[in-house]
Parts: sequence; structure tokens; C-alpha cells
Amino acid sequence: MLLRSFITALLCCGIGQAQAQDAEGQALAKAAGIPWPAIIAHRGASFDAPESTRASYLLARDLGADYLEMDLQRTRDGQLIALHDTNLGRTTNIASQFPQRKDQPVNQFTLAQLKTLDAGSWFNQANPGRARASYAGLKILTLDEIIDIADQDSAHRPGLYIETKAPLLFPGIEQDLKAKLVQRGWLTADGQVAPGHRVVLQTFEKGSLTLLNQFMPQVPKVLLLWVGEGSIEPKVNSAYDPANGESKAAYYARQQPRDRAEFERWLDVAKANGAVGIGPSAALTQGGDQSYMDLVQPWMNQMAHAKGLLVHVYTVDEPVDFRKVMGAGVDGIFSNRSSELLKFYQRPVSRGVDRILEANGF
Ligand code: G3P
Ligand code: CA
Repeated sequence: MLLRSFITALLCCGIGQAQAQDAEGQALAKAAGIPWPAIIAHRGASFDAPESTRASYLLARDLGADYLEMDLQRTRDGQLIALHDTNLGRTTNIASQFPQRKDQPVNQFTLAQLKTLDAGSWFNQANPGRARASYAGLKILTLDEIIDIADQDSAHRPGLYIETKAPLLFPGIEQDLKAKLVQRGWLTADGQVAPGHRVVLQTFEKGSLTLLNQFMPQVPKVLLLWVGEGSIEPKVNSAYDPANGESKAAYYARQQPRDRAEFERWLDVAKANGAVGIGPSAALTQGGDQSYMDLVQPWMNQMAHAKGLLVHVYTVDEPVDFRKVMGAGVDGIFSNRSSELLKFYQRPVSRGVDRILEANGF
């Protein structure tokens, strides 16, 4: 009997604590104008369609994701585009199109050159079970084209969740971004998010966060977190060595902040530079190439909330992990699988993935 009371008390305490965390996160989200819990379509609905292409962003929009996530880079001729990697090898046919230049970074190519690349066929080869002939030939998109997608459908109007990717390669990109968002009516001339729109700016780089805050102080910003160079100091400094037979995911899962004070220091960096939240990584149950350090332990999320910071975790695709990170107190999830996350949150979806893809011509 005593044992039962003890277990009941423990459960009540745990549940009560989780509810308190959720309430804190909800209040912070409301103050920032951010949905709670937020569904952030990571490179679009990129489990089902080639990342950062028209197919993946249309699908995320029509499923009802809150945000289209993108990694912002800039072409040699100054155009803002969405691409994750700083080179083109993994997600395009650069090797056959420009064999001499296949290892060059994105910023060495003009937009016209990038537009000759096929950014869809790699997906069909990598994911035969999800391949579609219509993905072949998909193009790299400009920020303008993604804004067109977000603006086009009155039933679903997703926000934009924009990362300055490798910003040291693109001096001035923060100002370019502001100019584009103002030009497209997503920000007002005085730098507020325009009514009816949602924008979050994100970066791993402290310097870029400072600049984003300087040029767009009114726009919600999130500092992405990592354990390693340029971010949180690790407890143990050891490089990944594949010769150990350990997977990269297992190596990352072992990485931890040096101590609580070091984690707190980065929350203070976020706060001091105008962030409304942090974007920590997660270690995924099944591992894989997007499984990183577990930076969403309950104490970390509690500390973030106590400092007035939201927590949006990257990048989670499976219900077992959705449950785990929500239970730990996060306020939103970057996911490649918006369809699964919508289901998990019990949010209505008008049509399934296949029907939406087909309706959009894929
Ligand atoms: O932007 C959040 C998440 O996308 C960070 O990881 O490498 O996918 O940009 P990455
Ligand atoms: Ca990103």
C-alpha cells in the first residue's frame, strides 16, 4: 500500500511537472506569436519528397505544417536560395553537369547554373520505396519561389523558418534576407512581421544571430545548439573515429555539455542576442544520420523555460521520439515527416501524402 502511494505520488509529481513545463512553453510561444507545439517541416516534407524542392514544400504546406524550414545560402550573383549542404554533391547531378567543378561550394555558381541541375533524382536512387518519376529534374529553389509557395494557398499559409547556413561564407546575408522579406511583404518597412505572416530566423552561429538581431530585432529568432566546435564545449574532447566500429549516431549520443554551467552559458548567449528560443539536437532511438546529441533532457528544457526561451528540437521523425521529446518538455519539433507529426499531435489532415503529391502534379 505504501509502495503504491509512493508510486502514485511519483507519477503525479512527474505529470504535474510536465504540465507545468507545457504551460510555461505555451505562454512563451503565445508571447512570440509561435504555434504550440510547432510543426516545423524540415527542408519541407523531406521524408516523402526531395528536400528543399517544390515537391517537398508544397506537400508540407498542404499537409498543414506550421513552418517551412530552409537553409539559406547565396549564389555567386547574389540570389538567395535554399540548400542544406554547402556543396552540391549529395543532392544534385553536379558531377555530370559540371564535372570539373563538382566540389565547389554553392556560392561559386550563378543562379542560372544552379537551375540547370537536377535536385530530385538522387532522392529516387536513395529511397526507391518513395521514388516518383516526377521527382527527376526538380530544381533548387530561390527564397522567392518558396515565398510564392507559402503565399499561394489561402487554406494553408505556413510560416517560414529560415536558417542562415554557413553564414561566414555569405557576408551580408542577414541584410539581404531582411530586404527580401520586406520586399515580399512578410516584414513591414519598420521590421515587424507583417500581419497574417509567421517568420522565425535560426542559426548555429552566434555572430549571425547578433546580425539577425541587429537588422531584425522584432522577428523571433532561435539559436541552434550543438556540442562541439563553435557551440557548446563537450565534457570529453574526442574526435569521431570510424575505426572504433562505432556509428556516428552512437558517437554523437555520447557527447554531452561540459557541465550545466556550460549549457547555461549558451542559453545566455541566445538571450543576450535577442533569441526567443533555442534549437537543440536530439539523439534518435533508431540512430541514423540525423541523430545527434541529446540536448533536450528535462533539466535543459526547464532551464531554457526558466530563462524565457522556447525549445524547438531537431530533427525527429518517429512517434517513439515525438513522445520522448514532448515528454521532456519541448515546444515544437523540426521533422522531415510532417504527416506523422500532425497525426501524433492529433491535428486534422485533409488528405494523405499520396493524394497531395498527385494533386500537385507529382
Ligand atoms: O535548422 C534546424 C536543423 O535543420 C539543423 O540541422 O543540419 O538539418 O540544418 P540541419
Ligand atoms: Ca536547417
